[in-house]
Amino acid sequence: MRQSVPLDRCTRLLNHGPTVLVSAEHAGRRNVMAAAWSMPLDFTPPKVAVVLDKQTFTRTLIEASGRFVLAVPSVAIAALTGQVGSVSGRDVEKFSDVLAAAEPGPATGAPLVQGCIAWLECRRIPEPHNEQAYDLFLGEVVAAWADDRVFRDGRWHFDDADDSLRSLHHIAGGHFYAIGNEVKYVPLSEG
Ligand SMILES: Cc1cc2nc3c(=O)[nH]c(=O)nc-3n(C[C@H](O)[C@H](O)[C@H](O)COP(=O)(O)O)c2cc1C
Repeated sequence: MRQSVPLDRCTRLLNHGPTVLVSAEHAGRRNVMAAAWSMPLDFTPPKVAVVLDKQTFTRTLIEASGRFVLAVPSVAIAALTGQVGSVSGRDVEKFSDVLAAAEPGPATGAPLVQGCIAWLECRRIPEPHNEQAYDLFLGEVVAAWADDRVFRDGRWHFDDADDSLRSLHHIAGGHFYAIGNEVKYVPLSEG
């Protein structure tokens, strides 16, 4: 079940470095792509960074609308994640059925793709130099959501959930690992 995540906790949704889906909408056209290169940037207000190549259609929609969603896909949608990272919305109406089923984010209107386990709705922070020189886009998170089967009480709980709900981590060439188990340790004492 999708639950709201307090903004002061939302950077935790990306702390573990998952592959994300970047989605956007402008003038009735919706699109989604995969991105391995994203990260949290600041706590208050919460900010994120993501690299969006100039060739991507998603980037064009974000430049036009000023809004986007970073969502964390689960193992259950690994094939879809690989596919939206392999074809461009410039050439095809990508996953029209998936995007049609995606609810518009209440804060941004950008699509919230189903099968993800977290969603960060973002307002683009225009930084034209970074965008042109490094393809680096910044966003302020204005709303955040997570599936409470795996994220509750302000943190992830992958160990006691179904494996299909684990996040995806891109290695190379369309190969993913799922997040592993929590490492429990006894803190070292000083001295
Ligand atoms: C696992 C994976 C990770 C990717 N990471 C990025 C990324 O961080 N930045 C980027 O610009 N493209 C990345 N891509 C490539 C885009 O997803 C790809 O170019 C996509 O077709 C763009 O779609 P669009 O033109 O419909 O926006 C990645 C692809 C895959 C499969």
